[in-house]
Amino acid sequence: MADDLCSFTKDVFITKAPKKSPLVLRMIVLVFAMVCGVYICSICVKQISTRSKAGFLNIPVIQKACPEPNIEPWEIPYVHYPKPKTYSRAECACNPVRYFAILSMQRSGSGWFETLLNNHTNVSSNGEIFSVKVRRSNISTIVETLDKIYNLDWLSSASKNECTAAVGLKWMLNQGLMQHHTEIVEYFNTRGVSIIFLFRRNLLRRMISVLANLYDRDAKLLNGTHKSHVHSPHEADILAKYKPTINATLLIPNLKQVEETTAKALEYFNSTRHIILYYEDVVKNRTKLTDVQDFLKVPRRELKSRQVKIHKGSLSQQVENWDDLKKVINGTHYESFLQADYRK
Ligand SMILES: *[C@@H]1O[C@H](CO)[C@@H](O)[C@H](O)[C@H]1NC(C)=O
Ligand SMILES: *[C@@H]1O[C@H](CO)[C@@H](O)[C@H](O)[C@H]1NC(C)=O
Ligand SMILES: *[C@@H]1O[C@H](CO)[C@@H](O)[C@H](O)[C@H]1NC(C)=O
Ligand SMILES: *[C@@H]1O[C@H](CO)[C@@H](O)[C@H](O)[C@H]1NC(C)=O
Ligand SMILES: *[C@@H]1O[C@H](CO)[C@@H](O)[C@H](O)[C@H]1NC(C)=O
Ligand SMILES: *[C@@H]1O[C@H](CO)[C@@H](O)[C@H](O)[C@H]1NC(C)=O
Ligand SMILES: *[C@@H]1O[C@H](CO)[C@@H](O)[C@H](O)[C@H]1NC(C)=O
Ligand SMILES: *[C@@H]1O[C@H](CO)[C@@H](O)[C@H](O)[C@H]1NC(C)=O
Repeated sequence: MADDLCSFTKDVFITKAPKKSPLVLRMIVLVFAMVCGVYICSICVKQISTRSKAGFLNIPVIQKACPEPNIEPWEIPYVHYPKPKTYSRAECACNPVRYFAILSMQRSGSGWFETLLNNHTNVSSNGEIFSVKVRRSNISTIVETLDKIYNLDWLSSASKNECTAAVGLKWMLNQGLMQHHTEIVEYFNTRGVSIIFLFRRNLLRRMISVLANLYDRDAKLLNGTHKSHVHSPHEADILAKYKPTINATLLIPNLKQVEETTAKALEYFNSTRHIILYYEDVVKNRTKLTDVQDFLKVPRRELKSRQVKIHKGSLSQQVENWDDLKKVINGTHYESFLQADYRK
């Protein structure tokens, strides 16, 4: 019996042993166990991380539990809830913010227009940010600058911080805007930026303003400081004393060039959500400011600016060589620039 048992166990060992050595078997089991262990571990880690990710996701969802704004479906891309890096929007975190840009040309009343907008408690227009060349050196610096402005992280005297309902800037056509128009239009359309075009109808008056401002840059008529905008009639009178001489030969080509640039800008940026304003219309008709506030979806307010107009009254009193200019322009389609006058 003992023999039998012995021979039986022997048989077992004899019959199995030759197939594989026990060491190899043990190694296989060990490797299998290790692979299983690593696999189970990796599943556990994945589950933990997805659960914690879901936890992180839940927080903004809770924060975003702002009441649904009462807006039309087309407006959704234009409504934003920025989270500035530098401060908290506090009690206004649920106030939607609209993005805008004022596209204009120098001496077209955009400085005055911007002071009007900034008189609104809920509007921050941060000025001519791209007058600084490095900010417009290439499309990456432009996008970086715009991102900062629209995230409410651009701090300027115009910042209204947490209760801003419309944020933007003033941007001149010759400040990289026309040069990089394709990328900028794409940015405006993907980020939901609305455009306010502000142009001047009377390009002859604009030309006088450009020349006078250029002259003052060197002459510095106001006690040795150059000013582009003034806040008192006295200062305005001093600046208006200078009468430029306009080169009559270059007058028509210059007017034409400005007109063409304006038309091109309107064409390039046609696909954006936009409104077109003319300086003269805003001066004459303050309901234009209501149109702008409605366009930006901010509550209607009476808006005031302390700026004083520099060149007032008849054009004939503002240039040295009026008779020459009259001759050149009479009979062209710019003739209306000679008469057109308006009062503030
Ligand atoms: C708007 O202008 C008025 C009059 O100049 C001034 O009293 C008021 O403080 C201004 N509001 C803002 C928000 O700048
Ligand atoms: C863009 O301009 C900035 C500043 O001039 C420069 O540092 C950066 O390398 C430029 N980027 C590209 C892509 O050219
Ligand atoms: C405008 O700003 C005031 C505080 O200055 C705030 O109470 C109000 O909610 C803001 N309105 C909008 C539409 O954001
Ligand atoms: C220029 O200086 C005079 C006197 O020195 C002063 O009365 C006037 O207010 C100053 N004007 C400006 C614009 O600073
Ligand atoms: C006007 O400009 C043209 C072209 O630059 C120049 O040839 C001409 O001398 C200028 N005329 C005056 C009066 O400055
Ligand atoms: C802009 O587009 C509209 C329709 O899409 C067209 O009627 C209009 O002429 C265009 N304007 C310019 C300046 O290209
Ligand atoms: C003033 O502007 C409004 C809105 O843009 C317009 O409906 C109205 O006819 C204008 N009034 C005058 C006198 O031009
Ligand atoms: C323009 O020319 C016509 C005749 O050619 C003349 O009657 C008219 O007074 C001129 N207008 C101006 C503003 O000089």
